[in-house]
Amino acid sequence: MQFRIRPLPFDGVDLFTLTRDELPSAVCPVSGRWVVSGYSAVRSVLADPVTYLPDNALTAVTPVRPAALRSLVRARFSLPPTLANNSSSSHTGLRRLVASFLTPARVAAMEPRIVSLALERLDGVDLVSDLAWDLPCIVLLELLGLSSVDVPALKAWSAASLEFFWGDVSPSRQLELAGPVGEFHQWLVSRYHARDGALFEALADFGVSAEDAAGLCYFLLIAGQETTTQLLSVAFDRALRDRSLWARLGSPGVAEEFVEDVLRTAPPVVTWRRVTSRPVVLDGVSLPAGAELVLLLAGAFDSNGRHMAFGYGRHYCLGAGLARLEAAVVLRTVASKLPDLELASLEPPPMLQLLSFRAPLSVPVRCPMSQFDGERPRVG
Ligand code: HEM
Repeated sequence: MQFRIRPLPFDGVDLFTLTRDELPSAVCPVSGRWVVSGYSAVRSVLADPVTYLPDNALTAVTPVRPAALRSLVRARFSLPPTLANNSSSSHTGLRRLVASFLTPARVAAMEPRIVSLALERLDGVDLVSDLAWDLPCIVLLELLGLSSVDVPALKAWSAASLEFFWGDVSPSRQLELAGPVGEFHQWLVSRYHARDGALFEALADFGVSAEDAAGLCYFLLIAGQETTTQLLSVAFDRALRDRSLWARLGSPGVAEEFVEDVLRTAPPVVTWRRVTSRPVVLDGVSLPAGAELVLLLAGAFDSNGRHMAFGYGRHYCLGAGLARLEAAVVLRTVASKLPDLELASLEPPPMLQLLSFRAPLSVPVRCPMSQFDGERPRVG
């Protein structure tokens, strides 16, 4: 695809609803940031972590106002550079430590557990709140060796965190969200001090400070499950709109292929950020040092179907294999057990609408009354 370069600020686009179709060029100034779109431009940014630093990856999109900041300071909240936002040399060791919990063998061994969790959740009426919501969280906690966790509390903290860091939030909403953000952090610090769980033990043994461990786990426990909840939500909503696809999803390989297509065209992580360390020319556009880039991952794929949904290069997503497995196994399990399942409404679903995360908040479903007399069978 050819891009027209428009050097003037392009302000007709809302960053929070941004799609590639609206952008006139591969590198486009929008409201004080630079939006980068298309496979080759996005890939060239991610492939050069020295020029394009990840330091702003977890910076709040809406600047934190004094009242919310005071609340975070009271909770001693901090997000030091650890994984996604770390351009320093400490990244390699921390990445290796986390990767040891997510090896292909450990992930593959979770398949039967994922199937049984999906089967236990088949009688819900909403595929988001009754199935996609907690399943990835339970799987992640088991992989990281964290037991006795209050899953609803963790989900509430992580939803608040997503909105706090990636939302277009009013001052009062920001202050409200700062409470659960701080609580989440304090919970992580106390688990670290108690060495409560394999992940915290490993971090302590590796000599990671309480502050760094809490920052790392804060990101990992959000990124490692909210995104998969969102992927499942997008995938269910899309698959149930296509009866012939739903009928085929139980066959070998179909769910995997479909998940890959969702990742290419409607990934849950729609954008990711970088900041330039020096003046640089990207796709013919001169960027100053310190330029904030918003990379449009959604729709960034090439003619071979390779995509950027999990990023690229040094910070490539450590959970890509797990997310792919969970999504394909859950879709296959549900489609095989409930071939007649249908959407309760064909209206577009309410969406989570944050700078980096977009997915249906709800996918209400029903089974035809004739088949089950209004009762969904309990399977499992
Ligand atoms: C559909 C689900 C997911 C999507 C779309 C996704 C997407 C991403 C993206 C775009 C990045 C940034 C990559 C870059 O900067 O080049 C990332 C990083 C990361 N993701 Fe995921 N992710 C998903 C699931 C997961 C899961 C399940 C885990 C853990 C179990 C996870 C852990 C991480 C970690 C630790 C990083 C930081 C890696 C680093 O900086 O070295 N993600 N992910």
